[in-house]
Amino acid sequence: MCGIVGFTGKQNAAPILLEGLKKLEYRGYDSAGIAVENSGVITLSKVSGRIANLCEKTDNGNNIPGYSGIGHTRWATHGAPTDANAHPHMSCDGRFSVVHNGIIENYMALREELHAKGYAFKSETDTEVIVHLVEMYYSGDFREAVMKAVSRLEGSYALGVLCSECPGKIIVAREASPLILGIGVGENYFSSDVTALVAHTRNVLYLDDGEFAELTSESITVYDCTGAAIQKPINRITWSVEAAEKGGYEHFMLKEIMEQPRAVKAALAARMQENQIVLDGFDLSAKQLSRIRKIVITACGSAYYAGCAAKYTIEKLCKIPVDVQLASELRYADPQIDRRTLLIVLSQSGETADTIAAMKECKRRGAQTLAIVNVVGSTIAKLADHTLYTWAGPEIAVATTKGYTTQLSVLYLFCVSAAKTMGYLSDEDYQTLVDHLRELPKKIQQALDMCAAIPQLAAKYHSNHSMFFIGRNTDYAVALEGALKMKEISYIHAEAYAAGELKHGTIALIDEGQPVIALCCNRDVAEKTMNNIVEVKARGAQVLALSLSGNRAISAHADDIIHIPPVDPLFQAAVEIVPLQMLAYYVAKENGCDIDKPKNLAKSVTVE
Ligand code: G6P
Repeated sequence: MCGIVGFTGKQNAAPILLEGLKKLEYRGYDSAGIAVENSGVITLSKVSGRIANLCEKTDNGNNIPGYSGIGHTRWATHGAPTDANAHPHMSCDGRFSVVHNGIIENYMALREELHAKGYAFKSETDTEVIVHLVEMYYSGDFREAVMKAVSRLEGSYALGVLCSECPGKIIVAREASPLILGIGVGENYFSSDVTALVAHTRNVLYLDDGEFAELTSESITVYDCTGAAIQKPINRITWSVEAAEKGGYEHFMLKEIMEQPRAVKAALAARMQENQIVLDGFDLSAKQLSRIRKIVITACGSAYYAGCAAKYTIEKLCKIPVDVQLASELRYADPQIDRRTLLIVLSQSGETADTIAAMKECKRRGAQTLAIVNVVGSTIAKLADHTLYTWAGPEIAVATTKGYTTQLSVLYLFCVSAAKTMGYLSDEDYQTLVDHLRELPKKIQQALDMCAAIPQLAAKYHSNHSMFFIGRNTDYAVALEGALKMKEISYIHAEAYAAGELKHGTIALIDEGQPVIALCCNRDVAEKTMNNIVEVKARGAQVLALSLSGNRAISAHADDIIHIPPVDPLFQAAVEIVPLQMLAYYVAKENGCDIDKPKNLAKSVTVE
């Protein structure tokens, strides 16, 4: 996720762009840049680090005069957060400049094509292909060149393009990334979201997928994908600036929960090319994979629980034993790890001190390392032999949500791909699994749509002092993360228990009214868990069950039921966690907790 802004009018653009970028900094903050057109010349300024660095470099925009411009604040996906990779990107001839939010999935093929035609690339980004395409297609008609360039793109984009030969004009385009146009008086704007606009105007147009617009100081013209001019309704923003930053949601956590279909799509889509999984940072051959005797997954917090859930899928598909270890334990253990071990390191931030220490210890013992990390260029990403980024965009809420589901998604990609490489999957089975993976974002959206009753359930369950989360197999792994979410943000004691273990201790704690959240989604073991529900019900528990839609039997046992859509059990955890995130969120809200910043917790734990 990144933020883009644009301005055209009769005032200096740069200070307005910088103010706008500051408002979008929550969307990404590892590098930033602006391009300003002045009397037919485009001047570029970009720098790694926070927007403050760009303000310093440009004297708050005062040393780049010009009345139209575009700006970008970056959250690196393709290429480390360096000055060269920061946006805007310029065409070789200096006539065009582009800012982009999204991911161009076919950028590698386009890059090769453009390279062969003599276009020189200055960055490692997917975005740079766009500006070279615009240059290639330009023959005097700016809008036509952008439309032709865009017709070559696969993936998601919100774009702003400047052309030195068209002073005061900006062309924007949108596909699957947000883009809003702000209507001023004698000036117009665009932005990734309304936060950057509300200081200037509350009248906006929302572009839809496939649409383009041409902005000048006096007009905004919107075009559909065929190039025909269309009328769009003007909307009035009523949000406060604070609400706008959170996309209109009350908390970043809720916004990030809701973003999961898009985040998971970003993690998956670019790595699925023509029905094949293509892993950018992981290229072990069948021979190298067959040498691996065991996989160790290490991580902390939710990332550790993502590993616990993925263990079942990896063992089933890759037939390699998987040992999931807490990094804080692994670092001081005497682990049986050698050159035939593949260590998978999971971390949203890439900076967790215990995870780094465990990783270093395993590397010292000869393990091959694969990092699955969100923050590009982070310590763990750099230490690893292979890195796959989750491309979830910045996560602001301390309790991770999209971090967890995107880690799982990338783990699923890894194991389906590895199982195929090792010869464990027929072409047909491989295709079925790839199709099921492709459906994950849709399934997550359906799970979100099925959460309507959760606020009422939260009102019913919020005043309890403790909750048990039970499940078996993958349901148990999800229960661990569900209980952690509940603890972290609602401060209710929540304990996850393997359902079959209840009778070995925990059932002694079940009294009248004790809430038990029973996860019954895994078809292979759901019946067994239902027996456990009967046991706890007999002792007075109030049972809130989580089950697949269509499971009628459960209604005879549970007091309340939340459904999720049917989904391949191998990939179920990424869908099943969604209602539990929502439950924790609404319980915490009922209890008046500081949801985005829970007490005593930090987003990134960089000390032991
Ligand atoms: C903290 C965060 C958790 C996160 C854990 C591991 O405890 O609050 O949300 O799961 O650290 O962080 P990492 O950045 O390594 O995934």
